[in-house]
Amino acid sequence: MSPATSPTGADQRRGPFRPGERVQLTDEKGRMNTVTLTPGGAFHTHKGLLAHDAVIGQPEGCVVSNDTGHRYQALRPLLSDFVLSMPRGAAVVYPKDAGQIITMADIFPGARVVEAGVGSGALSISLLRAVGDQGYLHSFERREEFAEVARGNVETIFGGAHPAWNISIGDFQDEVVKQEEPGSVDRVVLDMLAPWECLDAVATVLAPGGVWINYVATVTQLSRTAEAIRADGRFTEPNAWESMVRGWHLEGLAVRPDHRMVAHTGFLLTARRLAEGVTGISPKRRPSKTEFSDEDLQTWTPRDGDWSPETLGERVVSDRKLRRAAKDAASTVQRGAFKDRDKD
Ligand SMILES: C[S@@+](CC[C@H](N)C(=O)[O-])C[C@H]1O[C@@H](n2cnc3c(N)ncnc32)[C@H](O)[C@@H]1O
Repeated sequence: MSPATSPTGADQRRGPFRPGERVQLTDEKGRMNTVTLTPGGAFHTHKGLLAHDAVIGQPEGCVVSNDTGHRYQALRPLLSDFVLSMPRGAAVVYPKDAGQIITMADIFPGARVVEAGVGSGALSISLLRAVGDQGYLHSFERREEFAEVARGNVETIFGGAHPAWNISIGDFQDEVVKQEEPGSVDRVVLDMLAPWECLDAVATVLAPGGVWINYVATVTQLSRTAEAIRADGRFTEPNAWESMVRGWHLEGLAVRPDHRMVAHTGFLLTARRLAEGVTGISPKRRPSKTEFSDEDLQTWTPRDGDWSPETLGERVVSDRKLRRAAKDAASTVQRGAFKDRDKD
């Protein structure tokens, strides 16, 4: 397939290394560094200096030596490497969860998808890959500064604007109903503090049978979202799960799970839109003595004002850090990372 007809970003993942590209260098001890290749530039460590020119023009997977003979293996970062090292403001959706979201929400090529919030754009990148150039992703973000970080990251990985992507600033629940036709959206993907506030908007824009997937960090958010969906009645019974990925150590006979792992990221919750006017079929549940009453719910459910990044234990990002992330994301694009794709 020629570069002109290949999907956005595909041609940048092939061929010899070009100036402006990000390259992952792995040394003999397995330590990784990502550098942006600049003609005449150098990668300095206490082990010496590696000239970028020794990498530019070489095939991917080459092994290059620095001025003291230390060797590095050079590869293009994969999407999963990129999202973990890209400039970020808010916490990103980890690749293990992005994979689950794409598969379990059935994000297909050509799908019409809406998403909020955008944060640093990690999930947007996976969603764009899944819907493809012929698809449609409309992302909503309430904070302009986050949207700037996301835009820079998306343009870096795709080498420019993606034809399927629109981003709007504002609260999802207010904006999506103004900008999308009722019943016109195939999939809704929410990663935010209070997805239950979006219930009406989701029910309005989602097509019958459409999938709504939520990514939340705590069980209190999970429970509140699930109960809101059940009480609303316009959706199927919600499903919830989490995924844990444990790496393995592989060395001779010492083959065992890694000692460390990312133990918790978030929970996923899906439900599907029923046809208009239909009452869902919920699994019959025997009333149990342990079931909670409305009164119980009141006592342990935080009031609306209590739902904040701080009360949910999220890291609060300072405005200064956010401005720096937006600047980093923009300068990666400006430096021309992946920009020379049409020149060869
Ligand atoms: C955890 S971050 C999203 C991370 C993103 N999914 C990623 O992978 O990089 C949550 C974002 O949701 C935004 N947000 C929260 N509530 C929102 C709402 N109602 N509408 C739009 N954006 C919202 C926040 O400003 C924040 O940027």
